[in-house]
Amino acid sequence: MKTIDDIDVNNQRVLLRADLNAPMKSDATGQMQITDDGRLKASVATINDLRKKNAKVIILAHLGRPKGERKPELSLKPISKRLSELLNSEIHFIEDIHAENATQVVNNLKPGEIAMIENIRFEKDETSKDISERQRLAKLLASFGDFFVIDGFGVVHREQASVTDIARVLPKAVGRLVQAEQKAFDKVLNDPQRPYVVVLGGSKVSDKLGVINNLINKVDKLLIGGGMAFTFLKAQGYEVGDSLLEIDRLDEVKQLMKTAKEKNVELVLPIDIVVSKQLDGSAPVSVVLANEIPVGLKGLDIGPKTSELFASKINDAKTVVWNGPMGVFEVNAFASGTKTVAQALAQSSAYSVVGGGDSAAAIRSLGIDESKFDHISTGGGASLELLEGKILPGLAVLEEV
Ligand code: 3PG
Repeated sequence: MKTIDDIDVNNQRVLLRADLNAPMKSDATGQMQITDDGRLKASVATINDLRKKNAKVIILAHLGRPKGERKPELSLKPISKRLSELLNSEIHFIEDIHAENATQVVNNLKPGEIAMIENIRFEKDETSKDISERQRLAKLLASFGDFFVIDGFGVVHREQASVTDIARVLPKAVGRLVQAEQKAFDKVLNDPQRPYVVVLGGSKVSDKLGVINNLINKVDKLLIGGGMAFTFLKAQGYEVGDSLLEIDRLDEVKQLMKTAKEKNVELVLPIDIVVSKQLDGSAPVSVVLANEIPVGLKGLDIGPKTSELFASKINDAKTVVWNGPMGVFEVNAFASGTKTVAQALAQSSAYSVVGGGDSAAAIRSLGIDESKFDHISTGGGASLELLEGKILPGLAVLEEV
């Protein structure tokens, strides 16, 4: 697999697939504003390194899932503006790759200059299931570049024109971010120091079954919090009130609990729970034992005793992977469990990897120092698929000659 140090990009046009899919919301004037620019910041290193090597950088990225439609609220313009501030450099924006001036913009770039193509998912061929349609777009995109560099870790699990198909047309290399992500996941998947603790949370157990099935063969302790914990508590025979429950996954969860026992994996479930009638924090909040959740109340965070227990397990570990919040951390009343876990991990000397998506957003929104973690992934789905042990098409294609 070539890196950007193995290709000669001097005065060459480099098409860079980044993942700049940042969460956005519209402000009082109806303008879209970025609420977390973590993915933009993570893309800066590769762009700057390419510029230092005198490349002309043409950024390819997506926002949301417009499915081939030009949706103004999913334009990359606000992303381009913020990225240009982070890079301290102008970004030439290409609204339409089919228009004549698209080629002009690219041809006019000087070494070290940057262009960005509008949301590539405005093109319906980008996500087409029909490979010939994807290849058609990949060919057009390839006409704007001499090299292709993949640095959008968040999309390497996607078989899409700007990820896999274009990599089969142009000479390719991997960017700094994808390299860093691969290194971190390789360590926790293939060479973890022990004790090895995995903390899983998030709302749905169905999203994490693949991860548990793979990691149960590798870890020493599995700590389960978040909404997904209630299906485990139910599987233990406890009532869970009005908490999230995936009843159709109960048998699979029971089987996992059995497997954990057979493999000597310590499965740690919540012992107390923060409950309330409303998940927006507007109703009274109390703490109950995990086996005494009253009818009519929802579990919305792990309780203080569980937080303490999880923190002590993290403290004893040499490797920790954390994916998924412990509760509804966006609401102050239910943020404590997630905060305690994040702080324990920040303070521990263990090699720590945080899965992307909600857990990375939680760290930033709770104001915890990001530099205290060894690696915070930028990939949500991609990081989960790696933890499931899957081969990701956007990485596999880099091995092709
Ligand atoms: C993400 O947000 O996880 C990536 O940008 C991929 O987005 P997608 O799930 O819409 O392909």
